[in-house]
Amino acid sequence: MTGPLFLDGSPAAHDALRAAVAEVLTVLASADGPPGEHRPFPSAGPARLREIADAIEPLPDEAEPLGEVLADVGRTVLAHGARVTDPWCAAHLHPPTLLTAAATELAIAATNQSMDSYDQAPMATYVEDRLVGRLNALIGLPEGGSGVLTSGGTASNLLGLLLARDHAAGGANLSGLPPGAARWRILASAGAHVSVRQAAAVLGLGRDAVVAVTTDDDGRMDVAALDRTLAQLAQTGGVPIAVVGTAGTTDTGAIDPLTALADRAAAAGAWFHVDAAVGSALVLSDRLRPLVAGLERADSITADLHKLWWQPIGASALLVRDADALGSVREPADYLNRTEDDDVLNLVDRSLDTSRRFDALKILVSLRATGRRRLAGLVEHLVDLAAKAGEAVRRRPDLELLAPPQTVTVLFRCRPDGVDADRLDALNVDVQRRLLASGRAVVGRTRYRGRVALKLTFTNPLTSHDDVAALLVAVGAEASAGLEEAA
Ligand SMILES: Cc1ncc(COP(=O)(O)O)c(C=O)c1O
Repeated sequence: MTGPLFLDGSPAAHDALRAAVAEVLTVLASADGPPGEHRPFPSAGPARLREIADAIEPLPDEAEPLGEVLADVGRTVLAHGARVTDPWCAAHLHPPTLLTAAATELAIAATNQSMDSYDQAPMATYVEDRLVGRLNALIGLPEGGSGVLTSGGTASNLLGLLLARDHAAGGANLSGLPPGAARWRILASAGAHVSVRQAAAVLGLGRDAVVAVTTDDDGRMDVAALDRTLAQLAQTGGVPIAVVGTAGTTDTGAIDPLTALADRAAAAGAWFHVDAAVGSALVLSDRLRPLVAGLERADSITADLHKLWWQPIGASALLVRDADALGSVREPADYLNRTEDDDVLNLVDRSLDTSRRFDALKILVSLRATGRRRLAGLVEHLVDLAAKAGEAVRRRPDLELLAPPQTVTVLFRCRPDGVDADRLDALNVDVQRRLLASGRAVVGRTRYRGRVALKLTFTNPLTSHDDVAALLVAVGAEASAGLEEAA
């Protein structure tokens, strides 16, 4: 590149940025899949992708023209991406993004404010604070709460459970875990996200400090089982320091009975953390909000905005009921959150990150430019889509619904007549792999109660019932083809 390298406020720099953005947009358009065809995934396999990547020189000695670099990247990189905009890209919880949020990413990158301290992000600091305050109010947390944005649900769960640990320890972790910490337990449903166990390990409690509480037939934490677990802990000297509810589990979309969990946590003197990475978006809708009743009782909440709030990754929040709880995270640094500057807010005091992006900006812009009512309609559409997909699975004799859809996830498997249990697992693995390898559909695959399960996760508001019906036909056809080839 021969023009300006940096945004220095000059007209020449802005012209160069405009030209570069235009080139990026051209490449984006050309990297879209063929119209009318489902191509959510590259049909080139992993070995070929490795070869293509290895042929790229990321750091040439001399500059290459931006247009050529982007055209090459479009052909080699973007054209071989997973396309979340395709309705048949339905495995995971990463959604298409609101275009207003994607566009605002440019302003975040171009201004590059860092959220750790007021002197790096003056207005941005208060904007993030305002945003988390608004999320708290929407959820129904009382005044006096707080929160901070994180890179994702994993990071939010880690921070929430760190607060739980410090709550149990009676304050910040100054000299390591107290002697009794080996008896501390975190109670979460068997369907809770893996990041809960991971957090327990990072926090020095050990993965096995997480006790998996049995779920009911719908995949929700079984309250009677929770009571039994608590009673057992009381007998054996275990100390429940946290109860973790999940509002929208990863595999079944199940929402734990949050009010009952809040009661149990309160009675046990335990921290109540809710992983609402998925379910936080339900509070946008007056119709769906009752599904997450009890969320407002949480001490801390994970709310992922890069799931059903359609933000580009990363955008998650850790929200807390009591602002003081975040005090245990604070680590004074002479250059950053200086005690004599107590008239300003330094968000590093709430965060496990130091340098951190101004992601609040894209969230704020896109939420304002869309409006709560419209967002609510999008969430409602996806929940309805999952419910109807569940019914469609039930109606098909070659498919079996494994759990009732409760949010945006449909867990099922192929179950053609005359195939024995062992063969069914292999068949379902095969169906998912074949669809992926052909590039036609990205369907989720997991295990549920010991069996291989397929999963559709609906995060794309543009997906229609017809898209889903056609995808189920394609899944069934793939199973038949697999059986025929094996015969
Ligand atoms: C319930 C739940 N919690 C946490 C996470 C982790 O979120 P992230 O991938 O943003 O770290 C996920 C991811 O799917 C999830 O489903």
